[in-house]
Order: sequence, then C-alpha cells, then structure tokens
Amino acid sequence: MKKQLHPELTIPFCYFFKKNTDTAPLHQETPLLAFVAVADTHLREEGYRIRRFTRLFQSCKSMVQTDCLVICGDITDQGIRKNWEVVESLIPKTPMCILPCMGNHDTWEEESEGGFDKAVTHFTDFCTAVSGFEPNAVYYKRLVKGFPFIVLGRDNPQEPFFSDKQIAFLERELSLCDRKKPVFVVSHYALNQTHGLPETFGDEEYEDYTGGFEGCSDKINAVLQKYDNVILFSGHSHMGLNPTCTFEKVGNIHSLNLPCFMFGNHHGLYHCGLGYVVEVYEHSILFRPRSFLRGRWMHRYTIEIPY
Ligand SMILES: [Fe+2]
Repeated sequence: MKKQLHPELTIPFCYFFKKNTDTAPLHQETPLLAFVAVADTHLREEGYRIRRFTRLFQSCKSMVQTDCLVICGDITDQGIRKNWEVVESLIPKTPMCILPCMGNHDTWEEESEGGFDKAVTHFTDFCTAVSGFEPNAVYYKRLVKGFPFIVLGRDNPQEPFFSDKQIAFLERELSLCDRKKPVFVVSHYALNQTHGLPETFGDEEYEDYTGGFEGCSDKINAVLQKYDNVILFSGHSHMGLNPTCTFEKVGNIHSLNLPCFMFGNHHGLYHCGLGYVVEVYEHSILFRPRSFLRGRWMHRYTIEIPY
C-alpha cells in the first residue's frame, strides 16, 4: 500500500499563537463533538503507571469540552483480571463516556488454559463497569452526540485474528452510517504498511505485515476503502509523533496512529503521556496532539481536515 500525505492538510498560522496551556477548543465555534484519544496505557499495579493514568483523567477533566475518551488498546499490560481491576479503580465514578478497544496485551491471559475467552470476559466486564454498556463481543458500535464510533478487536485466538463475522459487522455498520458525517473506526492495529510500518514498529526483525492487521489487513482495507468519511485510529507501534507518519491519507480514508501513552516512544517525539484531542466542527475536523502529563499542546503536529 502506497503511503500518501494528505493534500488538504493545513496548519493554520494562529495555532502558534494560541496559549499553550489553554484547554478550550481551538476555534471560537463550539465543536459538535470533542473527544480524547489515547493508546497503549499498559496499566498494572505499579506506582508510576498509576500516577500517569490518574493524571490522564485529571487532564481530561480540565478540558473545557470532552464528550468521550477513546482508548485504542493495550489498556492493560498483561490482560489479567488484577490489571483490569486497577484500571477500573482509577476511573472516576463521575459519568464519562469511555470507549475501550482491546489490544494484544489485553489478550495475554490467553497463555493460560481457556485464556482467550477469559480475556474477552475481562474486556466486556470492563466495558460494562466503566461505560455502562455490555458489548456482545470485543467489537461494537456506539454513537456519541450522533457520531458513530466502530470499535474493532481481535476476536480469534489464532490467525486470522479478525473473524469474517467481525469484518461483516464492520461492513454492515459502515453502510448504515451517514456518508456526510465522519465515522471513527477504532482499532489497536493499523493497516499493514501504513504509518511507516513495518520499520516504525521498532523491532529489529520484522515481516511486511508487522505492526498491522496482519493477515486480515487486505480484507479490512477493502471494506474501509468503499468510504471516504472514515477516520481510522490505531496504536500498537509505540511510534512517537512523527510529521510524516502519524497522520496519513490511505486511499479514501484518513488514518491516525497514536503514540504510546504510558511509555516513551520511538521514531518520533519520544515523550510519554501523549494523545490527541479531536474536535469536530460543522465542516472540519481538528486533530490536536497534547501531552496529558505536562498539560501542553504539541502545536507543531496539529492537523485540520475538511469534510
Ligand atoms: Fe502497547
């Protein structure tokens, strides 16, 4: 798949003058939707991880508008029940729309007998506890202020990791969406060979598919490419903010690869604590990287696209 930078990317001059610590939306007009997206929070019972995750929620709370929080997988570090309990205990009880997505670390329980099923149960129990809805599977659709979020997750312990049933679900849900509005597809994995993959996955040895949907990538891409209103969010690579690889136009869709929140990153801006605030306006979408640990915008990487 050929990588192509979006021709309509703009970085308005005013971004450089906006107060760095300001938590208000960037434009004067109130966003139709504003949400926070992070990936790879890798929670387990360890002091620094707990402190960073807690800071994320404090930071979300300090934003003038946050309609939901998307966590693009590897929510936990080992996928065991105890990890999930730690995450749950840190999430404030005040109502907040949280859209969790399952990552590979969230399935690590699969090493034990019947482990994959246990991992799925941990995940769906977590969704029920923190988001107030009970998904039937690790993939689901939710509407937030009328905007659809389609969340994907590995539902098969062996290759292919994404079942035909799930891909049919994606196809059906996309066909039902209003084509004049953006649709946010959330996945831990990116399409193969996007965002500088496989090199930007950071492994010394890799295959062409490393870091992506692997054997399911072509099938999933074939479905996504039927639409020009899809924004695909992924994590997994732990690639830092990168001016050419983080945000990409892939055929008809836009694709954003989120840096790892919990740890330092490679192939880009190193900092931990990074994520995005996404603001949806009447005719454009703003992607604003933010350090949620430092409470600072990363203006240089802000992108706005029309829709
Ligand atoms: Fe990760």
